[in-house]
Amino acid sequence: MAFEMDCERQSSSADVTAGNIARTYSPIIDALSAHVALIDCNGTILEVNKAWMRYSDANGNCDLRYGIGSNYLDLLDGIRCCAGGGEKELEDASMARKVAAGLRQVLSGKLDKFQIEYPCNSPTERHWFLLTITPFPGAEQIKAVIAHEDLTPLMRANEELLRQSAQLACSFSNTVEAIALAVEKRDAYTAGHQQQVVKICHAIGCVLNLDEHRLRGLLLGAQIHDIGKIAVPIDILGKPTKLTRPEMEIMRSHPENGFEILKGIDFPWPIAEMVYQHHERLDGSGYPRGLSGEEICLEARIIAVADVFDAITSHRPYRPAKSYEDGIAELSAGCGRIYDAAVVEAFLAHLQNKVKQDTEHSPN
Ligand SMILES: [Fe+2]
Repeated sequence: MAFEMDCERQSSSADVTAGNIARTYSPIIDALSAHVALIDCNGTILEVNKAWMRYSDANGNCDLRYGIGSNYLDLLDGIRCCAGGGEKELEDASMARKVAAGLRQVLSGKLDKFQIEYPCNSPTERHWFLLTITPFPGAEQIKAVIAHEDLTPLMRANEELLRQSAQLACSFSNTVEAIALAVEKRDAYTAGHQQQVVKICHAIGCVLNLDEHRLRGLLLGAQIHDIGKIAVPIDILGKPTKLTRPEMEIMRSHPENGFEILKGIDFPWPIAEMVYQHHERLDGSGYPRGLSGEEICLEARIIAVADVFDAITSHRPYRPAKSYEDGIAELSAGCGRIYDAAVVEAFLAHLQNKVKQDTEHSPN
């Protein structure tokens, strides 16, 4: 048992008292993986557990008493006072100040528990710890327990998870870009239109405060929302006159075609549904399924607004581009009835802000 290994520790009456309590609780304290120290009312370290000793040994600490008899507050003051101007040293000094304040509050009875996460550079590698300080009631000498729980394996697992997640996001992005490229090679208009829709969706998503993950999914969906047009004959896509009814039916099959192409890809966003739903309308007048209201996912409602605005304000094979005012008039007329009101308002707010910024930066 760690507490029985050092006879020197039990030389004073205070140590004997602490040692008695330590012996009582040692099976529990030594079984903990956290590095535990028992502290008196002045901050002096009375006892430490086996995990504390093992960590100290593993990091080449030559102190045979493992800090026992030293004052924890003095050790923290030493870190603060010796800190240079480096970023790491300032971080250590700031942490030491917080821990010292927390320990004093626990010792004075003002705080039931102090807890903080902190990084620690051992001679060989970087570690992360969770420091917990709690009172030790009912003992004559021991007044607080300090426990350092090694979070390193958890933090490393978390870092690896984040790395894999970023890699996966990159793979999804590359997949979408490859699909978008396939469209671009065949139909330059659709490719340019999809890029414009991405820009508008980004603006709307930012105004609506979508979180980063959802915004990323929205933009990927927007980037390939017309992927189903790859199955529409090029002479229909580029026809300079009004489409016949059969041609229109073929053209209107593109959301479902897109869904069929994408439904087997396990994206972490509902990309296939965004594509399937981007011609649905709030009042159920859209296609292919006649969905209405909340049945249409938010991303599809955003893509719909961006899609309509860009389609109106862009040159089409059968007509020249219309003005921004025409696009705004269409969205305003359908706001809350055909198009999601919050989405339209977000887009109009973006346009107003853009006009204001352009005016402010105008040389005249
Ligand atoms: Fe479309």
